[in-house]
Amino acid sequence: MRLSRYFMPTLREAPADAQIVSHQLMLRAGLVRQEAAGIYAWLPLGLKVLKKIEQVVREEMNRAGAIEILMPTLQLADLWRESGRYDDYGEEMLRIKDRHDRDLLFGPTAEEVVTDIFRSYIKSYKDLPKNLYNIQWKFRDERRPRFGVMRGREFLMKDAYSFDVDEAAARRSYNRMFLAYLNVYARLGLKAIPVKADPGPIGGDLSHEFMILADTGESQVFAHRDLVEMGAPGPDIDWFGDLEPEVARRTSLYAASDEMHDEARFAAMPEDKRMTARGIEVGHIFYFGEKYSKPMKAMVTGPDGKDVPAQMGSYGVGVSRLVAAIIEASHDDAGIIWPASVAPFGAAVLNLRAGDAGCDAVCETAYAALTAAGLDPLYDDRDDRPGAKFAAADLVGIPWQLIVGPKGIAEGVVELKTRATGERQTIPLDAALKAITG
Ligand SMILES: Nc1ncnc2c1ncn2[C@@H]1O[C@H](COP(=O)(O)OP(=O)(O)O)[C@@H](O)[C@H]1O
Ligand SMILES: [Mg+2]
Repeated sequence: MRLSRYFMPTLREAPADAQIVSHQLMLRAGLVRQEAAGIYAWLPLGLKVLKKIEQVVREEMNRAGAIEILMPTLQLADLWRESGRYDDYGEEMLRIKDRHDRDLLFGPTAEEVVTDIFRSYIKSYKDLPKNLYNIQWKFRDERRPRFGVMRGREFLMKDAYSFDVDEAAARRSYNRMFLAYLNVYARLGLKAIPVKADPGPIGGDLSHEFMILADTGESQVFAHRDLVEMGAPGPDIDWFGDLEPEVARRTSLYAASDEMHDEARFAAMPEDKRMTARGIEVGHIFYFGEKYSKPMKAMVTGPDGKDVPAQMGSYGVGVSRLVAAIIEASHDDAGIIWPASVAPFGAAVLNLRAGDAGCDAVCETAYAALTAAGLDPLYDDRDDRPGAKFAAADLVGIPWQLIVGPKGIAEGVVELKTRATGERQTIPLDAALKAITG
């Protein structure tokens, strides 16, 4: 992309009401624009990052056996009356009437819709397990939307729903999601800690929130340090084999958010293993059994010929929140530092003297080579001061900057800057391209 033809509206200063660094940087780098409280338009750069996160989530869901569908944002109130949640949900639900005076709502989540789909088609244990997910906009009329897309009213969520014939099978479905989530966050360059969460009225131990450590997090997290240091399981585990040991290795170590914190258990751990920090909730997984399948009559015939309500779980990832969470975890004074997996462009080419025949020629060569190598480069070909170009490239956080100026050209070299470390090398163009393309 040539910057002269692009739309990347960067701001020198963030609006005063942006309190946390990710919100400030998202506005300054031109990723989003607020349209109403908690409602955002995604500008080109922000949309690219959002789509990349979405794709990582999608790939890991598919790998773990989940199947993508797309459910509508507008749902019938009657479905929610069946589950009993229409009245319970309260003020956070945006209620709408159509021209026939029918009650609709903008979905805050999709248990009812997915249960309706399931019960229409699936009748036997032989067709289980099933895990259906979608990546779709949600609306929750939060009392206090804040911190930009971190706590919005309209936000993008990946929500998956598992269906099984009994509790043991539901636990296996839960385990697949538990480990798939760790792989998602690792690919996004994040260290996510699975903490015990409130299981709600069903009780049991199958509810976890995934927390990214950051000072601006809304939750308090208490965890065993070994859990914080433990890596993700990686893609090559046997997804339909016995995952219990891999999950237990993690859940046996203490980790809880404020509501579930057990100070006595925490205090019993060696002092150097106790970690307390603020956390951002980027995912939440949940087993809730028959809560929806029973009132909505989503029944399956078991091996014994008896009909039982499907055992369900739900699994959410805050896709739009992750854009902000990644920035909270990865930035410096100059701007965002995107992990390569979600960077809006793979490399930037900075032409320090656009219009100079030598600089233009080298930049065009670099731009073509990086494009051919699949790096999707951003070429700053604007007629602007070098200082402005450096600042913009740092602000928007592209991993590599290939800097082309008249002085270097005379000596047959360019400058290559790594955004994450700030390291600069002065090398021939070929070597720079090789370093970027690996
Ligand atoms: N208002 C919001 N803005 C952005 N992301 C949200 C919002 N509410 C929830 N999410 C994301 O969606 C994920 C699943 O939501 P869920 O656990 O149902 O929400 P909550 O924790 O608010 O009950 C959360 O872990 C979070 O990452
Ligand atoms: Mg939650």
